[in-house]
Amino acid sequence: MTDQHLWWQKGIIYQIYPRSFQDSNNDGIGDLAGIRQRLDYLQWLGVDAVWLSPIYPSPMADFGYDISNYIDIDPLFGTLADFDALIADVHGRGMKLVLDFVPNHTSDAHPWFTESRASRDNDKANWYIWRDPAPDGGPPNNWLSSFGGSGWEYDAQRGQYFYHAFLKEQPDLNWRNPAVQQAMLEVMRFWLDRGVDGFRVDVIWHLIKDEDFRANPPNPQYNESMGEQNMTLTTYTTDRPEVHQVIGKMRQLLDEYDERMMVGEIYLPVEKLVTYYGTGGDGVNLPFNFQLIALPWKAEEIRAAVDHYETALPPFGWPNWVLGNHDNHRILTRIGKHQARVAAMLLLTLRGTPTMYYGDEIGMHDIDVPPELVQDPFEKKQPGKGLGRDPERSPMQWSDEANAGFSGAAPWLPVAPDYPSTNVAGEAAKRNSLLGLYRALLALRREQPALAIGSYRGFSTPDGVLGFLREQDNARLLVLLNFTANDIPVPHHNLISGKVLLSSFLDRKGEQVDQAFALRAHEGVIIEVAF
Ligand code: GLC
Repeated sequence: MTDQHLWWQKGIIYQIYPRSFQDSNNDGIGDLAGIRQRLDYLQWLGVDAVWLSPIYPSPMADFGYDISNYIDIDPLFGTLADFDALIADVHGRGMKLVLDFVPNHTSDAHPWFTESRASRDNDKANWYIWRDPAPDGGPPNNWLSSFGGSGWEYDAQRGQYFYHAFLKEQPDLNWRNPAVQQAMLEVMRFWLDRGVDGFRVDVIWHLIKDEDFRANPPNPQYNESMGEQNMTLTTYTTDRPEVHQVIGKMRQLLDEYDERMMVGEIYLPVEKLVTYYGTGGDGVNLPFNFQLIALPWKAEEIRAAVDHYETALPPFGWPNWVLGNHDNHRILTRIGKHQARVAAMLLLTLRGTPTMYYGDEIGMHDIDVPPELVQDPFEKKQPGKGLGRDPERSPMQWSDEANAGFSGAAPWLPVAPDYPSTNVAGEAAKRNSLLGLYRALLALRREQPALAIGSYRGFSTPDGVLGFLREQDNARLLVLLNFTANDIPVPHHNLISGKVLLSSFLDRKGEQVDQAFALRAHEGVIIEVAF
């Protein structure tokens, strides 16, 4: 492609949850050497960049999202030498490596916090968010933890409360403090100098909290099934205007280097989300767009959301799409195995950088986790509400061997019972498998600039079908996706002519199309339109 687009615009990001990808030392937990062994697979699949969930030293209260040292590797995952070997191999294959960066909070075991809690007048005293108790001795205000319960924890040593947006083992850093900003920018620099190509920045919209500690308003939509963390809105704890200033500093640092990027974890409505590109593009390169996770799986809803997003994007804002991640139920569990194929085609034909979640490409589903095997602190805090995230974090299914080829020991979370039939080895050998479809889509996206960088235009279709055009130079592709279990004839239109490049069933390639198209139930198709 001779165009100006950067790797993170043209490419496909693949998220690895390192605990669950490949264990190399038989302790039941995945590791860096394991990921290295599986790079052949990722290259064969055709992804461009790999994002690793946190691999830093951590007490693992939130499985690595509680970091006690930002510039080392947890022994469970390996060493810095293993990391260097991994990044060299990733780059050697022409791929990129993106690390998770968790700036909002540290672990309570981080030396910064140990020092900060020791007294009110030490060097790090103001590195976290400390407040005096309310007059009745209770928490300073009504701010909640995203896992439920108060966001404030009393520390007897200091005689004050500290704020934690997540677990009490994850105290929030005070990003209003320039020394904190400096220290965290140095962390980014450490990894950039080591060669990482970018960061996925954890809960970036949380970084700054209200200076006046105003109470959050009650959530008018709240009901118990939503989880107690939703009792209030997060008006004064997230998406504060000043957050854009600190993001700008991160971005400036990234721009000192060549083609590095950040993708920000942001759960906000589209109008708010797009402000994270920054003024004139000095913000997050890719504010994660989670609409396909949140929306009902209906052609009409998704069409409206895509059109709305396309319109809301600033001229310098590159779009992106996500079907799943380690915090949400797997796509297959949400929409079923037939529609999972349509979802794959949607993700890989929309305009914008796609992010895939490991295992979705072979049709992994949520596992059932019996209470005695629960790991996730969210589930432990609010059991039985379906909030737990263990179900979508089960070990990657590589083969029909013991433990799905993930480990020689019992894995930290159970392997899905269907692994003998749902696994990489089996599906790689079967041409019309879901894995075969993902691979064909990834190859097509690489071959067809219209898919990677072309424009997007809606195409009107019957109910239940989503249609759009992707156009670039002299290429025009028409995508038609049947979201229903019925055959649907797409009526006469002169743009429906040319030939089929790919059907989600992998059985119609090359078929000539003349003015109309009969979509089978659950079928998606990409047609090369003849001019
Ligand atoms: C993000 C992570 C999630 C973690 C939380 C706290 O939402 O994706 O897994 O629990 O931040 O760090």
